[in-house]
Amino acid sequence: MFETLKPAPPDAILGLSEVFTADPNPAKINLAVGVFKDADGQTPVLACVKAAERRLVETESTKTYLGIDGLPAYREHARQLVFGDAVDPQRVAMVQTPGGTGGVRVGADFLASHHPSTTVWVSNPTWENHINVFNAAGLATQTYRYLDASKTGLDFEAMMDDLKSKTRPGDVVLLHACCHNPTGVDLTTAQWSDVANLLVERQLLPLVDFAYQGFGVGLEEDAIGLRTLLERCTEVLVATSFSKNFGLYSERVGTAALVATDAGSAKAALSHLKRAVRSNYSNPPRHGASVVATVLGDSELRQLWLSELAEMRTRIADMRKALVQSLSAASAKRDFSFLLNQSGMFSYTGLTPMQCDELRTKQSIYIVGSGRINVAGVTPGNLQRLTAAITGVL
Ligand code: LMR
Repeated sequence: MFETLKPAPPDAILGLSEVFTADPNPAKINLAVGVFKDADGQTPVLACVKAAERRLVETESTKTYLGIDGLPAYREHARQLVFGDAVDPQRVAMVQTPGGTGGVRVGADFLASHHPSTTVWVSNPTWENHINVFNAAGLATQTYRYLDASKTGLDFEAMMDDLKSKTRPGDVVLLHACCHNPTGVDLTTAQWSDVANLLVERQLLPLVDFAYQGFGVGLEEDAIGLRTLLERCTEVLVATSFSKNFGLYSERVGTAALVATDAGSAKAALSHLKRAVRSNYSNPPRHGASVVATVLGDSELRQLWLSELAEMRTRIADMRKALVQSLSAASAKRDFSFLLNQSGMFSYTGLTPMQCDELRTKQSIYIVGSGRINVAGVTPGNLQRLTAAITGVL
């Protein structure tokens, strides 16, 4: 049964990281996978996480299975962060999932069980793995237009036009709450409000991917889009992640959440989310969720986390500015100031697949073929080499 298998194509993001790891060039630069890097190019364990882990070593008394929906204290903190007081907690059904991807997949499995003929509309472009996840769950996907002709800003009119004219009632619209992956191009609050009205009018269900809370402007500011939707839409699906804002990538800590019209529907929906979990990975891992619950449940550790999160956010914003300045000082053939209007970890540089290829093969600089860069991968130490390489391929 295996003899005739041809190799699957490598993953557009994680596949590139495998090639990066194997590259012997000591000056190689990885701007592909979305992980935070400090000024030394390291992805550190946050001090608040280390402190929580030390506490857990002393206090944790069991490694028995968690419930199918995960650690209750973790879920409560996650709910507060994501929804605040915007929605009655009784209307929220939330399960802990292995990372944000797990959250999207649980949401997709839930939809596939109950609304198998729905189509999930994703922005063009969207995170490289979104379509895989929905298709793997058995759901059809379509794209709505997102970027303008320059591919560096939003074409809101085109987006609205597609959602208005191409969708059917009961379809699902995937939206990135903030720090759009891969473009860094976000909606304004007024645009969120227009989208919310359209979703209600067309009877479309929003599925909000909220993987970067705190990486844009701040924890509360980054939630404005979701909270604006919640003012109009009575049903919402959300996937969240602590990979980035807690640096807990490999611990796989996320949630799938659903806002229902009332407490009774939320309770019923929760039982179905749990079925989706049980038939997939049974129940979620404990460690990362315990770390998050420990940090958020302790005022000192929470303060430490907030300052570490602000530090990460500021470093990325500083590097964004430094890259634009450096490219301009090097008289690059393109004006990169549009990067300053983009937000979060990623930016669409407008580099073509061929230019990205050349950067990889000739300079050991790894950029996703779409031209997406992880701005956090830029450091004071590699800025000059990066600038020279980019101006070179232009
Ligand atoms: C990314 O977009 O690079 C991250 O979300 C990591 C991943 O799983 O692709």
